[in-house]
Amino acid sequence: MIHPYDMMQDIDRVLVTEEELHRRIREVGAQLAADYAGKRPIFVGILKGVVPFFAAMAQAVQIPCQWDFLSVTSFEGGTHSTGQLTFRKDIDHDIAGRHVVILEDILDSGSTLKFVKELLERRGPASVKICTMLDKPSGRTVALEADYSCFTIPGAFVVGFGLDYDDYYRNLPFVGVLKPEVYQD
Ligand code: XMP
Ligand code: MG
Repeated sequence: MIHPYDMMQDIDRVLVTEEELHRRIREVGAQLAADYAGKRPIFVGILKGVVPFFAAMAQAVQIPCQWDFLSVTSFEGGTHSTGQLTFRKDIDHDIAGRHVVILEDILDSGSTLKFVKELLERRGPASVKICTMLDKPSGRTVALEADYSCFTIPGAFVVGFGLDYDDYYRNLPFVGVLKPEVYQD
């Protein structure tokens, strides 16, 4: 059983610091603001891991925009995707004719974002692009690339800034590598 007060001792190393995260999010946010000026985009966050990234990014993009959220899962509490996607919560907006930017914490195998992108594309939006906080190219099993990516990371299981193991560690203000002994029994 993992207790929240053991958080720091479960981290092997910090991969992206709090300062690096916020600096880079401001950079990518400025790029999004420039690219979507006058387009009134809808930012669609994939719950729950995207919450800290969404909040930081949404404030970095100072143009008229709307927010929405959906929830899917490909995880059963472990560290590897099951490939089985469940749709838990749909977005509220009608996105027909709209410019949609999907925000996600991590692009790993690609199956979650592929599923979500194809689902939204079937509703007739003007465009659908992907903005991810982290990209882990070594994990990819389906052909999919992000349009906007803040950091490319190596092939380790990471937690923090929204990313979890068994729903813990999301509140860490940085992205770190979880010690393998935490999830290996
Ligand atoms: P896929 O494989 O579908 O993964 O691209 C997307 C979802 O899987 C979770 N995921 C991770 N969560 N550390 C985590 O805490 C990781 O290294 C990791 N890799 C994938 C995450 O929920 C993401 O939305
Ligand atoms: Mg997630």
